[in-house]
Amino acid sequence: MNQDNKISAVYPGSFDPVTNGHVYIAERAASIFDELTVSILYNEHKSATFSVQERIEMAREALKHLKNVKIDCFEGLLVDYMKHVGSRVIIRGLRAMSDFEYEFQIALMNRQLAPELETFFIVTDPKYSYVSSSGVREVFHFGGTVQGLVPDCVFKKLSERFNIKN
Ligand code: PNS
Repeated sequence: MNQDNKISAVYPGSFDPVTNGHVYIAERAASIFDELTVSILYNEHKSATFSVQERIEMAREALKHLKNVKIDCFEGLLVDYMKHVGSRVIIRGLRAMSDFEYEFQIALMNRQLAPELETFFIVTDPKYSYVSSSGVREVFHFGGTVQGLVPDCVFKKLSERFNIKN
């Protein structure tokens, strides 16, 4: 809870780029929590297709219909960022059992570091169960269609980046 008695949550991730699966999770989280911050990890050791600024702009456009959602970025430990923004709730999306092991590890590591935080998992819509940012980038790069899997602004940005008209 923040100073206005509002419950805020943070949806962290790489979002390289944001997909319709992410949008779905953000929509569901935004319908439950008073405020949601979608926060993009800046990691200089991990090569990304899009810069943090580009990812912020795409996420902002894709989520502009959600009035209680803002976009931010962070570097370093998520638990430090959570303290910095004063939120106790971490949102993560789950697609399949294969996500669970990875997510379980992250959630327990975060709990070890900051027991006062809680991770909430939101299950995806089955139609997005196979959609990932890396899959989208690869399919697009090799000329496959990703229409319906990413927001329009991301589709446009992918076309510019890979100089392809799929
Ligand atoms: O979209 P992703 O890449 O699956 O998101 C992973 C993310 C950003 C949530 C996770 O890697 C993270 O929180 N990184 C920040 C560093 C950190 O806090 N690590 C400790 C938990 S393993």
